[in-house]
Amino acid sequence: MATLLLPLTILSLVAAGIVAGHNVTISLLDSAIAKGAVCLDGIPPAYAYSPGFGDRYDNWHVFLEGGGWCQNVDACLDRARSSNGSSAKLMSTQNGIVSFGGMLDANSTFNPDFYNWHVVKIFYCDGSSFMSDVEDVDPKYNLTYRGARIYDAMMDELLRIGMGNAKNALLSGTSAGGLATTLHCDKFQSLFHNTTRVKCVSDSGFFVHGEHFMGADWREAFFFSVISTHGLANMLPTSRTSKFSSTLCLFPENLVPDIQTPLFLIESAFDSYQISQNVFSPSDTSPRWISCIRNLMFCNWTDIKIMKDFRYTFINTLKSTIENSSSRRGYFVHSCYQHGHMEYKRDSTCSSLVGNGLANKTIAQAVGDWFFDRSEFQEMDMPNDLPRNCTSFDDQPTLEKKCRDYIHH
Ligand SMILES: *[C@@H]1O[C@H](CO)[C@@H](O)[C@H](O)[C@H]1NC(C)=O
Ligand SMILES: *[C@@H]1O[C@H](CO)[C@@H](O)[C@H](O)[C@H]1NC(C)=O
Ligand SMILES: *[C@@H]1O[C@H](CO)[C@@H](O)[C@H](O)[C@H]1NC(C)=O
Ligand SMILES: *[C@@H]1O[C@H](CO)[C@@H](O)[C@H](O)[C@H]1NC(C)=O
Ligand SMILES: *[C@@H]1O[C@H](CO)[C@@H](O)[C@H](O)[C@H]1NC(C)=O
Ligand SMILES: *[C@@H]1O[C@H](CO)[C@@H](O)[C@H](O)[C@H]1NC(C)=O
Ligand SMILES: *[C@@H]1O[C@H](CO)[C@@H](O)[C@H](O)[C@H]1NC(C)=O
Ligand SMILES: *[C@@H]1O[C@H](CO)[C@@H](O)[C@H](O)[C@H]1NC(C)=O
Ligand SMILES: *[C@@H]1O[C@H](CO)[C@@H](O)[C@H](O)[C@H]1NC(C)=O
Repeated sequence: MATLLLPLTILSLVAAGIVAGHNVTISLLDSAIAKGAVCLDGIPPAYAYSPGFGDRYDNWHVFLEGGGWCQNVDACLDRARSSNGSSAKLMSTQNGIVSFGGMLDANSTFNPDFYNWHVVKIFYCDGSSFMSDVEDVDPKYNLTYRGARIYDAMMDELLRIGMGNAKNALLSGTSAGGLATTLHCDKFQSLFHNTTRVKCVSDSGFFVHGEHFMGADWREAFFFSVISTHGLANMLPTSRTSKFSSTLCLFPENLVPDIQTPLFLIESAFDSYQISQNVFSPSDTSPRWISCIRNLMFCNWTDIKIMKDFRYTFINTLKSTIENSSSRRGYFVHSCYQHGHMEYKRDSTCSSLVGNGLANKTIAQAVGDWFFDRSEFQEMDMPNDLPRNCTSFDDQPTLEKKCRDYIHH
């Protein structure tokens, strides 16, 4: 699943130019071992912590990394040998350092609402959106399925270093981490006093089932495999499993309505991950389709119709999910062909410059206004029914200058 995404992401970042944030040291959570809260390969999970500073010292932003799921033993074995299933691999490929950009950045020029918060990035090494908790280690392959325990052990550690006193707390995540955010949001909220403002932001985590749109059976079968591989059937919210099969409970359209904590969804109606990988089964993904989704000039009318149908399904599912929700949601749904925003300056704090602003706001401004109750934000790009090409041709200094001017006009 993720093999396609990686090159696309790299492409868009190279084109983006402005990626850099500030460097933060990655640590292993050794105290997790005693709790059995370990990665697929059995070693402790990793996180990176950038302490808050200045007058907002008691604000915390916890970010859950994404990276797809593993849906069978082979895929989980592959993962256990890579940085998304082994923190040892992560440490070596990253040289123990990660860059916090976008809404994790400590620079007030670009990230005025969240720059001086305590920021914690929790790395993803379980392949189950932080949901698995299987006691027995797989005897044949020596794989450990403990994502939920990793999440809990990380929260214990953050409470130990003072998160419980937060005045404001935000749980967020991108992609599989966005789904994890949705799944853990109410649990996160319960860690705090009732005087703490606690909210969640799911970034590109709205994976639609879309039962009437092509590929629904395949999408369902995929989540079914994830659930059986990681033993998730009993880990999903019971309020939902009483209404739907456990497979359907992994689709946010069936999860979001019951969440009590304020939740904001950042999405593209042409989510590049879902359009490139979840529409067809992977075996049907032809090179022709790939070149078409990268450049509409290479698409024929059938392709265009599929994209329009996807958008229709996505938008209607999201709208009906919001309408069915117990509390009000914020959302920002643009039309650029993208997946993942929060960690990148181009795609969150400067997003309007590449064309995905809505209602005259960048994604970061919309989320900031919503988080601090300055204003609600519920916007979708309705006029554009085809993916927009949100590429900037400016060089990095020009783009940064335009962004500064935009934010501080
Ligand atoms: C961050 O680390 C990278 C190498 O990992 C280095 O190239 C870069 O200069 C560092 N950035 C800052 C701001 O120190
Ligand atoms: C299983 O994984 C653990 C943790 O990495 C390791 O200590 C142990 O030696 C492995 N066992 C086998 C049989 O490979
Ligand atoms: C993450 O895991 C998937 C397998 O599920 C793999 O295809 C991908 O290359 C991995 N990414 C990295 C950076 O190792
Ligand atoms: C924030 O970024 C701007 C523009 O790149 C730079 O001039 C400024 O020094 C940075 N501020 C901090 C605190 O790093
Ligand atoms: C918060 O909790 C305290 C005691 O637990 C209770 O007295 C108070 O009414 C609660 N406040 C709100 C706004 O729920
Ligand atoms: C966007 O424009 C660039 C430059 O013209 C092109 O390389 C790219 O393929 C286009 N992307 C899409 C999705 O049309
Ligand atoms: C578009 O291309 C696909 C794949 O080659 C083909 O199946 C379909 O019939 C084409 N549609 C049109 C309208 O040409
Ligand atoms: C919203 O609720 C209606 C009525 O219960 C139901 O038919 C519809 O499927 C729900 N939509 C979603 C996305 O759950
Ligand atoms: C966008 O916002 C800026 C400042 O908030 C304002 O000056 C400008 O007129 C707004 N533009 C539109 C089209 O609303």
